[in-house]
Amino acid sequence: MTATSIWRTEMAKRRVAILISGRGSNMTALIEAATAKDYPAEIVLVISNIAGAGGLAKASEAGIKIETIESKPFGKDREAFERKLDETLVAHNVELVCLAGFLRLLTPWFVKQWDGRMLNIHPALLPSYRGLHTHERALADGVKIHGATVHFVVPEMDSGPIVMQGAVAVRDDDTPDTLAKRVLEVEHQIYPDALRLVASGSTRLDNGVCKTDANGSPDDTLISPEVI
Ligand code: GRF
Repeated sequence: MTATSIWRTEMAKRRVAILISGRGSNMTALIEAATAKDYPAEIVLVISNIAGAGGLAKASEAGIKIETIESKPFGKDREAFERKLDETLVAHNVELVCLAGFLRLLTPWFVKQWDGRMLNIHPALLPSYRGLHTHERALADGVKIHGATVHFVVPEMDSGPIVMQGAVAVRDDDTPDTLAKRVLEVEHQIYPDALRLVASGSTRLDNGVCKTDANGSPDDTLISPEVI
């Protein structure tokens, strides 16, 4: 490899924005992963729809540009809020969007704008437990396995091609909090790994299913618990 091509490879990082509403622990995991030289994405912007969201200060400390675009003043005019969001993303030449605890339903218009270029993390093994209170519902059902999913965003909530899943074993003495804690640890592993796959061009969509290239063994797309 010549000096020029090495330079080009290093420059080929995808420009990523993270959208948050809260504490931003997944955001932090993505920011940390992206500091690695060989990581194929750089986090260029963090946007919160809630003023003063905890994640904003963390992003700022990490030297990432932050923006607040409050959704509340837009009321029911979801598209007006999203047009502002979209303008901001475009102005920063963003190529991929990661939703990380972004508590706002997105309209089909916005989803279409970012079709195939927007990821979300959901604290359950989709398609089980779409929506809220996933850990409580998993415990109430007595499932023995639970976890988290990174998926491409489609207009239907908590649906879309699955990039990666991480599972945890459910214990008899789990509470929603203890389960949430273990699932969150898995979230922090799979989101950076999933973004790596997508940003490096190792994923392709085949009839609504996300597949991983060549050496994409399940090792790349699944973390499963060791039950002992
Ligand atoms: C995470 O559990 C994520 O799966 C869900 O919202 C939560 C956000 O947490 N979408 P954090 O802000 O990333 O800490």
